[in-house]
Amino acid sequence: MQEKIKLASLKNKPIGIFDSGFGGLTVMSAISKALPAENLIYFGDTAHVPYGSKSRDAVIKFSKDIAAFLLKNDIKLLVIACNTASAFALTALKKSLPVAVIGVIEPGAKAAVKNTKNRKIGIIGTEGTVSSASYLKAVKKISKARVFQQACPLFVPLVEEGWNKGEITQAVVKTYLTPLLKKNIDSLVLGCTHYPLLKDLLAKTAGKNVSLIDSATATANEVKEALLKKDLLSNAKKAALKFYVSDNPEKFKKIGSKFFCKKINKVKKICLEKM
Ligand code: DGL
Repeated sequence: MQEKIKLASLKNKPIGIFDSGFGGLTVMSAISKALPAENLIYFGDTAHVPYGSKSRDAVIKFSKDIAAFLLKNDIKLLVIACNTASAFALTALKKSLPVAVIGVIEPGAKAAVKNTKNRKIGIIGTEGTVSSASYLKAVKKISKARVFQQACPLFVPLVEEGWNKGEITQAVVKTYLTPLLKKNIDSLVLGCTHYPLLKDLLAKTAGKNVSLIDSATATANEVKEALLKKDLLSNAKKAALKFYVSDNPEKFKKIGSKFFCKKINKVKKICLEKM
């Protein structure tokens, strides 16, 4: 009986999700759609964004501080909803945390391998993600597919400024994708949480022979499987969604609502240094 009560309270603990800023909200949105009964806590490290051009050590430190904050909020599982943080900090967090940790890279790599017919996969991401070669390693672990990578450092600022379409963004997209398209890829992994907002332009430029792989949905499925396996799926009647940032909550509300595809009404600023 006591065990049953303990499991019931464990089930309704929240899932912690973090990213360097807004991008991870695309992953949170996919999790919320796949698992509407789950209580979710999101942390956007808006004081340190972008992670994509930071060093491995800096990203590991930020990630550990955020994980400590989310653990204080009694999470049952942690999702690193940022490709750069998944590339640099997944191993360190898996080793040091008492809860399961899921990153976005393995789910994205698995989805690409499942999709490719000609075994030529393109990866686009931040400089950090591409230089870590994490997608490449994740694909190599499970398949003989060839992987072609391209860092797209201008995409994040364009998306943050709301430049999701227009001539300039179109020209940047074409410049970055052309070398990959010349390799005849049939699957393109959006290896950065900001890129789903460029989906229309990316799809148009890549053409109908290339499928876009968004790791948000694949990650949400992985979260579902992990909770099912541990019998930890929530049975809450109404899920609570909470949002925290390290800077500028008002900007997060405004821009974050676009990433989350739903209005975000309440965002609290947390100073991790003071915790
Ligand atoms: N969220 C980051 C990622 O998925 C992109 C933004 C950044 O550079 O911090 O890699």
